[in-house]
Amino acid sequence: MEEDLMHDIKCVLIDKEQIRKKCEELGKKISSDYCGKKPLFVCVLKGSVMFYADLLRNINIDCELEFMAISSYGTGKSSSGEVKVVKDLNTKVEGRDIIIVEDIVDTGITLMYLVNLLKCRGASSVEICALLDKIERREREVYPKYKGFVIPNEFVVGYGLDFNEKYRNLPEVCILNS
Ligand code: IMP
Repeated sequence: MEEDLMHDIKCVLIDKEQIRKKCEELGKKISSDYCGKKPLFVCVLKGSVMFYADLLRNINIDCELEFMAISSYGTGKSSSGEVKVVKDLNTKVEGRDIIIVEDIVDTGITLMYLVNLLKCRGASSVEICALLDKIERREREVYPKYKGFVIPNEFVVGYGLDFNEKYRNLPEVCILNS
């Protein structure tokens, strides 16, 4: 990896093999739980893009893919607390079984907003699949039905996650130097 990208990285928290196995495991579980249904997988851009692509390759039932962009973090490491839809879905969610695919649940503010929004629009069910859960930081009652790893209260980057738009292309989840 480029020296420049690794310069501010303290260590790798979750490596490629752990991610690969987790996507397989979650994909199998979701495919079995939603067998006979046609869920709509909503990718929350941009942070979830790597996880979404790897997870969906492990889903073996009929399903549809959609993308949404939400902003709650201006720049830097702390949430502004203000949630905004930056890019909306291109499909109706009424009567659909939705699985929101998210990179990380931190305070839970973003997901609480999104779950409520999709329910208000008439979704039959809304569940969350999150790769990472920073449970210590939770401020809202948001509990992903499917989750990859519970992580400590550290700022992480890589595998889609950024710090000021940098590091998203690292293939592993890494802890950033503070
Ligand atoms: P929440 O609304 O506080 O739960 O924040 C969720 C969003 O904050 C995630 O989708 C990420 O985009 C971002 N976020 C939270 N923690 C981190 C982190 O450790 N690294 C990078 N982004 C983070």
